[in-house]
Amino acid sequence: MASRSLCFVVAVFLAAASACLSSAGEPLLPPTALAFGDGYTQLFGDSNLALHGDGKRVHISLDERTGAGFASRDAYLHGFFSARIKLPADHTAGVVVAFYMSNGDVFERTHDELDFEFLGNVRGKEWRVQTNVYGNGSTAVGREERYGLWFDPTEDFHQYAILWSRHRIIFYIDDTPIREVVRTESMGAQFPSKPMSLYATIWDGSSWATSGGRYKVDYKYAPYVAEFTDLTLRGCAASRAATACARAPDDGSSTRAMSTTQRSAMEAFRARYMTYGYCYDRLRYPAPLPECTVGAEAAAFLPSGDARAASRGRGGRRHHRPRGGADSAL
Ligand SMILES: *[C@@H]1O[C@H](CO)[C@@H](O)[C@H](O)[C@H]1NC(C)=O
Repeated sequence: MASRSLCFVVAVFLAAASACLSSAGEPLLPPTALAFGDGYTQLFGDSNLALHGDGKRVHISLDERTGAGFASRDAYLHGFFSARIKLPADHTAGVVVAFYMSNGDVFERTHDELDFEFLGNVRGKEWRVQTNVYGNGSTAVGREERYGLWFDPTEDFHQYAILWSRHRIIFYIDDTPIREVVRTESMGAQFPSKPMSLYATIWDGSSWATSGGRYKVDYKYAPYVAEFTDLTLRGCAASRAATACARAPDDGSSTRAMSTTQRSAMEAFRARYMTYGYCYDRLRYPAPLPECTVGAEAAAFLPSGDARAASRGRGGRRHHRPRGGADSAL
């Protein structure tokens, strides 16, 4: 069911995006999963990036010498971007794997960014996933959310996806939407609006990644290897048709709301697995940022924005809803 409705959302989105044609009328949407050499380029990490399976799988690793990373060759204005990712296992404190979109290399002071960041953890504790949104250089205004997962992300590949349209951004894990950012008047230019490239990196985040930097990367356990496959880029490649992208008519489909099924899947995920939300962080934002709608569910969060039920997630109390009654209004 969830999977059907995701397909629907993507199909609707693609219908809108396919209005984006080059002047020759040739469609700009590339085929689904691209081999590395067809759409990506290595950014750093020399031999710490390795290709497998005809370039369809990419391993990036972190050792005492360096991390590694790659990026899409093109920048895209809106689209659907995803990868199946398997994270390094074992003791991964301080290790950060990031899967994100950015235009920081082009717009130094007014860059946009959409992030999935995977924060490693001490042995026996789970990876945390963080999402974040920056627009027009709003790096002083973090919009972080963190979540636990309902599976072990080191055991298998799972799909992480970003759907970015003119009107909304949706982050997905497998077929479940986990976060929606609707463009509001009040967000203004802080809603990403310039072409971005897709990036994947692994790096040493010792200074902040695990419990705010309490645990450093331990290279005794290196190399840390993150595996990527099914790298998918579906959108308007800006280099090929900057003006066509900008002029693409909007048939209104990208303003359409999520289906009820999708929305309840998202709400259930957030009620159960969200461990931090910037909308609840009264220490950082004494008044919630304007796009936040904070309801009764706020009672489940401390003034720091951290969920009161510290044991949320896979290892948590499975048969006990940690947020008794307060999970209705997300
Ligand atoms: C983006 O930020 C720049 C620099 O702060 C500012 O001059 C510009 O007006 C902003 N753009 C929009 C659309 O608000």
